[in-house]
Amino acid sequence: MLWGRGTVACVVGTALVSALVFWLHGEVIQRSFSFRSTHSLKDMENIFRLVRNVIPPLTAKKHKGQDGRIGIVGGCQEYTGAPYFAAISALKVGADLSHVFCTKDAAAAIKSYSPELIVHPVLDIPNAVNEVEKWLPRLHTVVLGPGLGRDEVILEHAKGIIERTRAKGIPIIIDADGLWLIAQHPSIIQGYQGAILTPNLMEFSRLYEAVLRDPVDSDDHHGCVLRLSQALGNLTIVQKGERDLISDGQKVFVCSHEGSNRRCGGQGDLLSGSLGVLSHWAFLAGSEKTNGLNPFLVAAFGACSLTRQCNNQAFQKYGRSMTTKDMITEIGTAFNKLFEHEVKATN
Ligand SMILES: *[C@@H]1O[C@H](CO)[C@@H](O)[C@H](O)[C@H]1NC(C)=O
Repeated sequence: MLWGRGTVACVVGTALVSALVFWLHGEVIQRSFSFRSTHSLKDMENIFRLVRNVIPPLTAKKHKGQDGRIGIVGGCQEYTGAPYFAAISALKVGADLSHVFCTKDAAAAIKSYSPELIVHPVLDIPNAVNEVEKWLPRLHTVVLGPGLGRDEVILEHAKGIIERTRAKGIPIIIDADGLWLIAQHPSIIQGYQGAILTPNLMEFSRLYEAVLRDPVDSDDHHGCVLRLSQALGNLTIVQKGERDLISDGQKVFVCSHEGSNRRCGGQGDLLSGSLGVLSHWAFLAGSEKTNGLNPFLVAAFGACSLTRQCNNQAFQKYGRSMTTKDMITEIGTAFNKLFEHEVKATN
């Protein structure tokens, strides 16, 4: 095996990392929320309540940046849509700032989609890792992978960025070609409980086989998600599919909030971008606000339901012609419907 237990120990560098490890890992985690096979409407309602608990109220006292500065790492010549979708979704969920770190030839396109994003054309320059690292102290979460591509040099830079993000204890969501990279080098993420991986079924099989050296058991999706999470050191896994399965190595949650039968390319970027924000909020709120549950499980459940609700609303309007853009337009109303209906104004 290429990776071993030694990698777990080397994570614990900063106080922040220790706090994170304690939170996600300590005895406070309760067992009363296990939804292994069935879950009732009441259980779903309970988790929605926990998601609402971690959402910061809108108050006049805050300064810009407090509700989330999210960094998206991805975007290359071929793929400029994915990082844009992830970054704009983060803003629409409630982040204050979205940064995109992409290659030079992707930057102009991404900027032209939206004046609201901060775009850094650094991913393909020789000191890319250092350039991104400079920004890390100002970011609350990193989302790595949307539109990353598989160029070897870029992937090498992505690897360095994951390592630096991990060393600083910053939560990181890894999707798309970022997961391809993880399947080649599981040790870069193994044991880091600040990571959330969001594979679709194909990406999941690839990861599972790379880490467990065994094919996925298609009769036991729950068990497979649980085992992969444990083998990677109990980091959070969100397996996207007809039903989304979410595990932190202890519990498996199922999100089967109603969406539609139409899935469009880019839906995963909406999920990863919103998870960037929700995981920051949940991490900040801590396990007191989540009834002792791992905050990342709650964040992931929130992001999965939100994505499904956007899909549902957009499908009702556009049917088959629905695209990711239509889903993104629904973020505001979907968010209110799911999470804000009992929130009162605070000041
Ligand atoms: C992961 O969680 C399982 C189940 O609670 C536990 O037995 C195991 O020790 C944990 N592993 C790590 C690396 O935290």
